[in-house]
Amino acid sequence: MNAAPQVEPFDYVIFGGTGDLAMRKLLPAFYHRFLDGDVPDGCRIVGTARAQLDRAGYQARIHDALKQFVDHASYDEKRVRKFLECVFYLSLDGSRADSDWDGLSGLLEGGEDRVRVFYFATAPRLYEPACANLHEKGFVTAGSRVVLEKPIGTDLASAEEINAGVARYFDEKHIFRIDHYLGKETVQDVLALRFANPVFEAVWSGEHIQSIQITAAETVGVEARAAYYDTSGATRDMVQNHLLQVLCLCAMEAPKSLEADDVRDAKVAVLKALRPMTDESVRSDTVRAQYQKGEISGHAVPGYLEELGHPSHTETYVALRAEVETPRWKGVSFYIRTAKRMKAKTSEIVVTFRASSSQLFPGASRPNILVIRVQPDEGLSYRLSVKDPQDDTFTLRSAEMNVGFPQQFGVRYPDSYERLLLDAVRGNPILFIRRDEVEAAWRWIGPVLDAWTRDVAPMSSYVAGSWGPDEATRMLDLHGDVWHEAMDDM
Ligand code: BG6
Repeated sequence: MNAAPQVEPFDYVIFGGTGDLAMRKLLPAFYHRFLDGDVPDGCRIVGTARAQLDRAGYQARIHDALKQFVDHASYDEKRVRKFLECVFYLSLDGSRADSDWDGLSGLLEGGEDRVRVFYFATAPRLYEPACANLHEKGFVTAGSRVVLEKPIGTDLASAEEINAGVARYFDEKHIFRIDHYLGKETVQDVLALRFANPVFEAVWSGEHIQSIQITAAETVGVEARAAYYDTSGATRDMVQNHLLQVLCLCAMEAPKSLEADDVRDAKVAVLKALRPMTDESVRSDTVRAQYQKGEISGHAVPGYLEELGHPSHTETYVALRAEVETPRWKGVSFYIRTAKRMKAKTSEIVVTFRASSSQLFPGASRPNILVIRVQPDEGLSYRLSVKDPQDDTFTLRSAEMNVGFPQQFGVRYPDSYERLLLDAVRGNPILFIRRDEVEAAWRWIGPVLDAWTRDVAPMSSYVAGSWGPDEATRMLDLHGDVWHEAMDDM
């Protein structure tokens, strides 16, 4: 897949090995890396969970998951069977000292000198007890590291507690807080686009940019994850981590280098420069909503509360307006929006440039718009004004430059976990989140969540299969902006 150094055989233990994330993302990602030759012979991937399963039963589950979640072109029955030879299973409750740790010792035998990754795809409250057990039972070797899934905590206090708990057993350099958005090629492209292209670097400020929109829209509902999602909501699930990380990459000053800590320092500086949210700004600059029944791609879907079967104050939609209080971003609105059950699945960054002030075409040109399509259809487009070829006067028309990355490069765009799983083995932290980043993000978003619990801003609703509630349209309207899907009229 890439030119990164080959890895030596490693051991990877997944806590939460039977869960949705493991089946849908982690094992398919390992399979792809196996096809690329990055899971050398002798590697051991050990799934653990409380479920009583034997190895064959676990392999059968993974086999089914690969059939379902690996793209048709990459699925090869013979290769799948070979891959499954490196997969093991242990029924283990990581939070209990009296669980089957001897069983884990048996499975990891002889691997004391290897890189050993413990991946926590579990509820975050289990991170500390499981780390304590790993430590006390002697599993932490020089090459050991932990990968922690988001969200780390549910607010600043719980995040601090989890971070401090894990830090008792692992050094920061061995803690890999994963945010899979950072593993997306197109998210990393933000850095390339901004800092390797003088044309963009020169205009990347409030002098030329009016607003930046970051959207992660999904068509799926909460499905089998309702129990988790209803305690989390769109803001904790997506904004505190993925979308604020993307905002940081869009807004940060040039890091000193591409060393992990330089990039992280630049991101933390953005988080600290976000204008603090007050009750007043929560009223004017946030919208939260739940989906009601509707239709997606011709299929009727139930509303959130019907799906849950009980009342709930959890938002499945959130839109926020943020400001970055640095000289570069004076007067620029950063809009963040994410939701379940939207009209289409799309993650994108939309940069709206200020309209031309040229006297030659007064009021005639539409703003230039740069769209970075994070997924699907990875690529970018740029809307600019050209002369209308069917008109003899200087009437302007919009034209679009469009680059599709997979077509351009003739490659499959890998799932973000493919890169991140192996970066943890290599000990490369650049795409992982440092402790102070997590805490700074909670510090900023906390007052919004707190104000909502006090009903400072109402809960709205939107029809499943739409682009969200009218309140979100009005929020942008107040600043002379519109959401991307409505920009054709702009
Ligand atoms: C996860 C969230 O982190 O990201 C999910 O927990 C969400 O609720 C998912 O569906 C979206 O990821 P992607 O890569 O499909 O945009």
